[in-house]
Amino acid sequence: MSGDGHNTSEQVGVALGARSYQILVGPGVIEEAGTHMLPVLAQRRVVIVTDETVARLHLDRLTASLDRAGIAHDRVVLPPGEGTKDFAHLQQLAEGLLDRRIERRTMLVALGGGVIGDLTGVAAALVLRGIDFVQIPTTLLAQVDSSVGGKTGINTPHGKNLVGAFHQPRLVLADTSVLDTLPRRELLAGYAEVVKYGLLGDAAFFDWLEANAAAVLEKDGPERRHAVAHSCRMKARIVAADERETGERALLNLGHTFGHAFESELGYGSEMLHGEAVAIGMTMAFDLSARLGLCPPADAARTRRHLRRVGLPTGLAGRNWPPERLIDHMGRDKKVVDGKLTFILARRIGEAFITRDVRPGDVEAVLAAALAA
Ligand code: NAD
Ligand code: GLY
Repeated sequence: MSGDGHNTSEQVGVALGARSYQILVGPGVIEEAGTHMLPVLAQRRVVIVTDETVARLHLDRLTASLDRAGIAHDRVVLPPGEGTKDFAHLQQLAEGLLDRRIERRTMLVALGGGVIGDLTGVAAALVLRGIDFVQIPTTLLAQVDSSVGGKTGINTPHGKNLVGAFHQPRLVLADTSVLDTLPRRELLAGYAEVVKYGLLGDAAFFDWLEANAAAVLEKDGPERRHAVAHSCRMKARIVAADERETGERALLNLGHTFGHAFESELGYGSEMLHGEAVAIGMTMAFDLSARLGLCPPADAARTRRHLRRVGLPTGLAGRNWPPERLIDHMGRDKKVVDGKLTFILARRIGEAFITRDVRPGDVEAVLAAALAA
């Protein structure tokens, strides 16, 4: 859409009527952020919310761009890490925004990973009874998943993302060049969510990832941009069809019923990143599907092989966790309906489906196998 060929960005639309918005994917989008934001600003004033790590690496590029576009800016800088997605930091952020005398027409800008995006989204939904926000995701996970679709949330001691709102951003600017500063482990965790799109609904994309994973993970280039833009296109299509997750959107939770249980067990630290938990969870969802005779065992093996080959975890060896306790964590999930767990299972790679019809004994058997592997 802009630039000189090398600097080309791709545009993906999220069609939600009056709340529709664009996602721009490409290198250097942050340098053009001010220009891209002007059409969605009700006043030429924004407050940037970011974390200390991202502020050090990328905030100056954003503020320089806002200066060039004549947009006044303020900032709230929070500590990095999942621990920031809690009530205490939501309060700190809300009070910080009120201290800065924001108005209803002031735009919030979330510059960071999923933690900053989710927390800023909650604040945007609540402060002054709701203001607009722009997402500038700086992790691969945030670019392909959390910045798109309007799910915002914080964690409580009861579990992950249990307090929040659906609040769509006005614009998403995914600058793929910022991913070059992301630690490899974080990049891989985000890659798990990219693989998720292939596994849940696009076998050809999974084939493409098998052939191009090394290039996607190595550095910013056409393969990485394609992976981000394609993931955003898939998410945009699903969100447009089912914004509030009454049906198809639940497919995006492939691997998450298992994954959230591991995160609950570990207390949301850095011992297991969200994307790592999802990688193990997706492997187990395919193992469970194969065990139930729903999916060819070869597809479960292929899923495990690809995730392992790039360096993602696929099992729970060495974890001394009783399977019943993990199942208990699953029972606290938002997706429980009438006491029944929701699982995303698969008929094959590229064809996932939603079910509440899984016997706890089968889940326990798959968990026991993963713990023993
Ligand atoms: P994160 O926001 O904690 O970022 C990971 C780490 O990378 C942080 O330490 C951060 O400071 C650092 N970082 C960010 N960008 C960087 C960059 N460009 N260079 C160097 N370091 C950088 O974690 P995440 O993986 O982005 O997001 C995880 C969160 O997203 C979880 O809380 C999860 O629940 C949430 N999530 C939400 C949705 C949704 O739909 N809202 C979807 C998936 C995940
Ligand atoms: N990450 C799951 C969703 O947005 O629905």
